[in-house]
Amino acid sequence: MKNNQDKEIILATEKYLKENFAGEATGHDWYHIRRVWNLSKSIADEEGDVDMFIVEMGALLHDIADHKFHGGDETVGPQRAAEYLNQYDIDEQSKQKIVQIVEEISFKGLGVATIMSTKEGEIVQDADRLDAMGAIGVARAFAYGGSKGRPIYDPLIKPVCHTSFAAYKTSTAPTLNHFYEKLLGLKDRLNTDTGRKEGERRHAFMEDFLQNFYRDWDARIQ
Ligand code: ADP
Ligand code: NI
Repeated sequence: MKNNQDKEIILATEKYLKENFAGEATGHDWYHIRRVWNLSKSIADEEGDVDMFIVEMGALLHDIADHKFHGGDETVGPQRAAEYLNQYDIDEQSKQKIVQIVEEISFKGLGVATIMSTKEGEIVQDADRLDAMGAIGVARAFAYGGSKGRPIYDPLIKPVCHTSFAAYKTSTAPTLNHFYEKLLGLKDRLNTDTGRKEGERRHAFMEDFLQNFYRDWDARIQ
């Protein structure tokens, strides 16, 4: 951490997010933000050589106005982040780097590249993606699917590889398809060695979950 002012901004941001995202029911609640914040700090500690203030603020603000909850508009998030940051005396370059993280972080379809411009951004993106994997990832996927009125599974509706953000974000497929359309692909899209290592364990859990899901789907005593 750089100085007292940085610390104060981070504390105030934590308070703001806690107040505004508590109890959110789609998997984008304060605890998701807190996990991404903590994971980002841990990855940054392992990776080294980054500006921790940018990592922490990028992690805290990354879901401040997700396109999924603003009619698919991906300009609202970075705009809100910039407005939020403007109340503080932060140098322009740092501000820009934080806003850029919010701008670039989102997954846009398996066939769409999502490259982060900074090392700090790569770390926050890894943290966000790790929180979409493993046991928490399974829980969040069904919470999100339920909030959008999607069925759990329909064997007649096959997963697709989205090659445009527009196709990805307008999909209404059952939640199980999301594993094939995003979640199982995340392990190969992590940026850092630390993220990749942690991703392996979380990926294995999802494979295991799916195997059990299909066994139980068959509804036979085994
Ligand atoms: P991103 O913007 O990269 O999708 P978020 O941090 O906003 O990342 O979180 C996405 C979360 O929402 C993940 O846990 C993901 O599984 C869930 N989610 C997004 N789209 C869907 C979907 N179509 N079906 C089920 N879960 C989804
Ligand atoms: Ni997120």
